[in-house]
Amino acid sequence: MYKKTLIYCAGAVALCMAGVAWRPARIDTDKGLKDYYKKYFPIGVAVTPRELKSEEGKLIVKEFNSITAENAMKMAPLHPEENRYYWNDADSIMAFAQRNHIKVRGHNLCWHAQAPAWMFKDSAGNDVSKEVLLKRLKDHITTVASRYKGKIYAWDVVNEAIADDTTFLRKSKWSQITGQDFIAKAFEYAHAADPKAALFYNDYNTEQPAKREKIYKLLKGLLDAGVPINGVGLQAHWSVNNPSREELEKSIQMFSSLGLQIQFTELDISVYSGRQGGQLINGQQQQVKSEFTPEMEQQQLEKYKMVFEVFRKYRKNITGVTFWNVSDRYTWLNGRGRKNYPLLFNADLQPKKAYWEVVNF
Ligand code: G3I
Repeated sequence: MYKKTLIYCAGAVALCMAGVAWRPARIDTDKGLKDYYKKYFPIGVAVTPRELKSEEGKLIVKEFNSITAENAMKMAPLHPEENRYYWNDADSIMAFAQRNHIKVRGHNLCWHAQAPAWMFKDSAGNDVSKEVLLKRLKDHITTVASRYKGKIYAWDVVNEAIADDTTFLRKSKWSQITGQDFIAKAFEYAHAADPKAALFYNDYNTEQPAKREKIYKLLKGLLDAGVPINGVGLQAHWSVNNPSREELEKSIQMFSSLGLQIQFTELDISVYSGRQGGQLINGQQQQVKSEFTPEMEQQQLEKYKMVFEVFRKYRKNITGVTFWNVSDRYTWLNGRGRKNYPLLFNADLQPKKAYWEVVNF
């Protein structure tokens, strides 16, 4: 071990002198993010079945001790027709996790996006009644949560039900047909199917004061009504200029005050400014060059350094931090006329400077 460390010290110095990305003098090549944070909280990542079979799979096993299916466990991918489930992708992710002793977060049991169209329609193509829709939701959640009972330690039960505009509830087929009832019912169905799973409400822009207040109000109402909810997922699709340390600490303090676990469930830090990954500023797409500039890298590592300082400070309230996608090789933030670089590993699956800021404490 000592010899390996010495070799790496020399290598690190050589790399620095050669102008290759900065690395600390001492590198323990056996350690990954999960090891640095083993006394704090699990470090997870969103994955696809393809990645698990490729070189990303090796990186995932080394660096992470929790995984989330990026898409495979959502309603439409799992349940494309009322009488047909498609389990292959979800099962392959579960098998990978079990082989490698990795925890699994389920994502998600009820969402306005990637919900199958049949869920809301009767045979004549009309909207179903509230009773029929809740029955279908119950069947879906019961089937899925029962299949993975005891294997999925936490579920994002309801995803993104709060509106981004000045209204309260997001307008969706769920809210249009059931009002707000689908939310409490989803948690009740999930708890009945797997009483030991930790049940989360998951949303984004949770550091934005107006939206944070609405989410807080929703969660307090659910808790006051005795709905079985254990935690709140703060997605953490952030950017180089948000959130501020103050906004982040306020969110952790507010949601912790409800007695809920906090997990950061979809962490990435876009190199473009603005909320939700910097995709749209005042409704306009940012048309910027797609290179990862030194300025972007510096801003990004400072933001990663800050948020992990705050995560460590509130370790008693945080039960998980999950990155959304493995590396800059693929991120959901690509497209929209530009490439993004929001993660700790570059497209060659090598740790970026921000990685060393995150583990160097
Ligand atoms: O699987 C189909 C494929 O058969 C088809 O050929 C292809 C082209 O149409 O689409 C494929 O489905 C895509 C799917 O990702 C799998 O790649 C969907 O079109 C595409 O919309 C979907 O995007 C996902 C998005 O959620 C859906 O809204 C992203 O990968 C995923 O990263 C993103 O994740 C969400 C979280 O679940 C919730 N929080 C926000 C986060 C980012 O939007």
